Amino acid sequence: MKRPIRIAPSILSADFATLGADIQRVERAGADWIHVDVMDGHFVPNLTLGPEIIRAIRKSTALPFDVHLMIERPELSIAQYAEAGADRIGVHAETCPHLHRTVQQIHALGKRACVVLNPSTPAIAVEPVLGEVDQVLVMSVNPGFGGQKFIRSVLPKVRQLRDWIEQRGLDVELEIDGGVNRDTIADAARAGVNVFVAGNAVFREPDYAAAILELRKLAEDA
Ligand code: DX5
Ligand code: ZN
Repeated sequence: MKRPIRIAPSILSADFATLGADIQRVERAGADWIHVDVMDGHFVPNLTLGPEIIRAIRKSTALPFDVHLMIERPELSIAQYAEAGADRIGVHAETCPHLHRTVQQIHALGKRACVVLNPSTPAIAVEPVLGEVDQVLVMSVNPGFGGQKFIRSVLPKVRQLRDWIEQRGLDVELEIDGGVNRDTIADAARAGVNVFVAGNAVFREPDYAAAILELRKLAEDA
């Protein structure tokens, strides 16, 4: 089953002083989803934003918010993110000892559930819940910052996940995040990714529309 290519600009690389306007600019430029990086300064060494900012920017766009929770104990605040306007909620497998329960919790809030894997976490960590989730996100950098270098050694893991998804006939989006740009996106697409987060590769380019179009074409032609 061929899934649509989706480009999800990460607002971590946007200008936080003009966030609403920047989101509207990437929407007009052809973005499919808005990727929102929530960091707690504990699970990852950086602190970004929380539900109140999501509530504020929710008014700027109708595009789906793909909320990536890089926080400890996500089960304690998932409901707040859902209520603030998240459409898709991603939790790291490394933060969820009761991963199946947390996925159920996201679904009970009426949202799409995503499980995220750090570069050093194997595919098998999500395999037991693969039939329960809507999305798997493979990190291609160690989470915490935008603008890092793509870690190519995660690609066999992407391929393994794509194979499981196909063999089992599952309806799961396979996403990659970190260092995605014109030099790396085709390899990720060939490994089986269909959703591409891009921070610097969109927001640090002068022409967002041209940047998104180029990334989309490279992924489609891969
Ligand atoms: C990293 C974040 C990413 C990051 C991507 O921890 O999860 O979403 O913003 O930025 P780029 O595409 O610049 O690597
Ligand atoms: Zn992210």
